[in-house]
Amino acid sequence: MKKVIVTGGMGFIGSHTAVELANKGYDPIIIDNLSNSSLSVLDGINKITNKNVTFEKFDLTDSIATEHCFQKHKDAIGVIHFAAYKAVGESVKLPNKYYKNNILSLINVLDSMYSNNIPNLIFSSSCTVYGQPDVLPVTESTPIKKANSPYGFTKQIGEQIINDFVNVNNEISAISLRYFNPIGAHDSCLIGELPNGIPNNLLPYITQTVYGIREKLHVFGGDYNTHDGTAIRDYIHVVDLAKAHVKSIERLEKKKNEANHEFFNLGTGIGYSVLDVINAFEKSTGRKVNYEIVAKRSGDVEAVYANTEIANKHLGWKAKLNIEDMTKSAWDWEEKLNSTKS
Ligand code: UFG
Repeated sequence: MKKVIVTGGMGFIGSHTAVELANKGYDPIIIDNLSNSSLSVLDGINKITNKNVTFEKFDLTDSIATEHCFQKHKDAIGVIHFAAYKAVGESVKLPNKYYKNNILSLINVLDSMYSNNIPNLIFSSSCTVYGQPDVLPVTESTPIKKANSPYGFTKQIGEQIINDFVNVNNEISAISLRYFNPIGAHDSCLIGELPNGIPNNLLPYITQTVYGIREKLHVFGGDYNTHDGTAIRDYIHVVDLAKAHVKSIERLEKKKNEANHEFFNLGTGIGYSVLDVINAFEKSTGRKVNYEIVAKRSGDVEAVYANTEIANKHLGWKAKLNIEDMTKSAWDWEEKLNSTKS
């Protein structure tokens, strides 16, 4: 079986990708320091795939440990690099934490790919690289604006580091995947999103409010220039997103890429406001969301959604699940999570 190294493979998107890789006959090798995840995720992955997925626990900012692990798995056909901090607000307060972790681990990954002749890299990037675009939907050639947060800047710098690296090391090819807003959970409810403390993101906040863990959802901003005044995002189901990673690694493995470093937007192409998401949640689950419209959250953009034509065409991939499937999936996961706690 072909090995694929999955850094951050115990995280939200990483764990779903490890499952999709295993489903397609790849052998995922998970690297994670468990700083923002738990070992129980591995049980979920193993149960879903009926396999014993390899797990290497260490910190990718440790260059010696990274080199040692990549040497051990030098027969891997590629690396999918998720491992990174991702809380936008925290990155504003603790910028060096983000620069040190997100940039150093990427550099160590690239160095060890080079020294062990591992040829293919998929990089976990973000729509955040676009900031508030002047024209919607955003295409891959939409200009990159100044980042809104250190987190967003680490994604911009990361893409640039990869550019410079593959330009001089032609034997390595890369794809940067710019995610829009991943939500939902695996159908089995054995893996899903595990927010640390109070959720920053919309869907876990909605599901925890409806479950009674939080009192009410604060909808940040009601006077945006949108159809109902609330901010618009392109939500994508995490399993659809995970599948795009498998398509991307296949593209590089079969040398179908048209450049040493390609970029793809991963979304559904449809923008939904916060109130649209609440409505979809209520419709798909039959539960009411207690919410209040409050002041805007600093750093938020008004509206962003993807043009996904390039990803559809070049990856042979299209997101399938709609907003109601996604909100229902997030709710099923919340219920399962709490039923196993009690
Ligand atoms: N929102 C609320 N109330 C909340 C949480 C969110 O109204 O309690 C609103 C936000 O203001 C925004 C929308 O819901 O309009 C989505 O917010 P999220 O926090 O879920 O996601 P973001 O669009 O802010 O995305 C950010 C980064 C992405 C990153 C993502 C997940 O921009 O790069 O968080 O970490 F991938």
